[in-house]
Amino acid sequence: MNETLKTIARRRSIRKFKAQQIPQELISEILKAAMLAPSAHNEQSWFFTVMQNRELIKELNQASKNAAKNFHIDDIRKIAEHPTLDIFYGAPTVIIISGKPSALLNEINCAAATMNLLIAAESLDIGSCWNGIAGILFHQEPKKYASLFKLPDGYQPHYAIALGYKDMQPINAPIQKNIMVNYFN
Ligand SMILES: Cc1cc2nc3c(=O)[nH]c(=O)nc-3n(C[C@H](O)[C@H](O)[C@H](O)COP(=O)(O)O)c2cc1C
Repeated sequence: MNETLKTIARRRSIRKFKAQQIPQELISEILKAAMLAPSAHNEQSWFFTVMQNRELIKELNQASKNAAKNFHIDDIRKIAEHPTLDIFYGAPTVIIISGKPSALLNEINCAAATMNLLIAAESLDIGSCWNGIAGILFHQEPKKYASLFKLPDGYQPHYAIALGYKDMQPINAPIQKNIMVNYFN
């Protein structure tokens, strides 16, 4: 396996982070990699908010849990109802991924950029966890959070990524559920 394939294979969701902050140069490198992702029509419809304000991260955690309390999936409701669980797992940096819904295939563009971001982070030995629960909150109150994050006009927050140095041994790669490939030769 080459280094790229090894990095992809090594990346796992990290659910316990050290408090130590990530140096800004590394955050910049990770975001540069995110922005090199492909996008439909080359619209690059993403926007990144680097949240390192601990009070705001705490507020986002609590507001996201409140927003997810009536969610239709049991596991998510359980997380939301947990009195002490931090949905960002103590990460010192939370990156909010926003996009421009008017752009062609906007959410797919944002997901492509997000995957680059996660792989770039792993290549620097920085742990990450994609956070869809914050997305429940953003979906409920898009204007409020677009304004809080000072997004440019026409952008909406979609979800968040927790980033930081790992404070746990990554679990094994999940078992591949099915062989979801067909070959036509
Ligand atoms: C769109 C999306 C949303 C996710 N939301 C959450 C989340 O809110 N909390 C969490 O702990 N993990 C979340 N995850 C991480 C998945 O649970 C994880 O990727 C999956 O279990 C496979 O594990 P791995 O990332 O270690 O390979 C999310 C992943 C994706 C792609």
